[in-house]
Amino acid sequence: MMVVSCTLAPLPGRSTEIPDGPGIRIARSKPGGSGKVWPPASPTRPSAATRPWKRSSPSQTNIFTVLFMPLTKKPTGTLISFEGSEGSGKSTQIAHLAARFQKLKRKVITTREPGGTEIGEQIRNIIVHNSRGDEICAQTELLLFAAARAQLVREVIAPALMRGIIVLSDRFLDSSTVYQGIARNLPTGPVNEINRFAVGNVLPDLTVVIDVPERVGLARLKLRASDLPDRMERKNVDFYKKVRKGYLVLAKGMPERFIVVDGTKTEEAIEKKIWSEVRARLP
Ligand code: TMP
Repeated sequence: MMVVSCTLAPLPGRSTEIPDGPGIRIARSKPGGSGKVWPPASPTRPSAATRPWKRSSPSQTNIFTVLFMPLTKKPTGTLISFEGSEGSGKSTQIAHLAARFQKLKRKVITTREPGGTEIGEQIRNIIVHNSRGDEICAQTELLLFAAARAQLVREVIAPALMRGIIVLSDRFLDSSTVYQGIARNLPTGPVNEINRFAVGNVLPDLTVVIDVPERVGLARLKLRASDLPDRMERKNVDFYKKVRKGYLVLAKGMPERFIVVDGTKTEEAIEKKIWSEVRARLP
């Protein structure tokens, strides 16, 4: 029997250790800004005590350690994901929520999916800005989103949670459940399995769904002229109907995790609603 030893090869000029400092930035984005935090700030070395996955060799990390142990003890941080169709106003509201936490002197970072890491941003480019049309099949898309997610969890989210930081993520695993599973009709079993494999034991503590009717989301997208070439944003009304319904079904099934807010209200009203719900549910 052939035994395959699998390690992460070091990238030129980069350590292959999972950093818990480098991938993390404290959110500074302004309300109304993109809310996206990338690229990471320059590395500062955290102590070994906060890196339980660190192995003795700095140049090679056992891939099985990386894949199966994103969190080795109970994290003290909080993961809040934001979901909804394009044009729902997620990034604006993420920036508002980050600002609320910062006012309370809580440590908070923002990130996004797909993206949030160098690898993830490259994957995002392949999927989102693929200008040649619809040739990415749903299966490939699912795997690419999962790959970006796996990297984000291990490089940014899990280390931040271990350090007690609040992580606000623009999309997380529910996007795959809804977009690939429900809207693109991939079977639920593989979608859930792949999602689970990608995130390990890192699940959102709370998920905010900003709900907008499909025509409202599409109309807002059309106003964002620079985004129009995005392949994902050329989908039709029926697709976004399925997306919307998918999120509402998920939220109904897991009311303890999901908060659904009406995205047609004013920016200020949505902000207040999210903050009151989050405050009520967080310890
Ligand atoms: P957004 O960052 O503007 O929301 O765009 C990301 C696009 O990628 C959006 O069309 C939703 C899509 N997407 C999926 O289809 N599945 C996923 O798992 C994720 C994270 C995003």
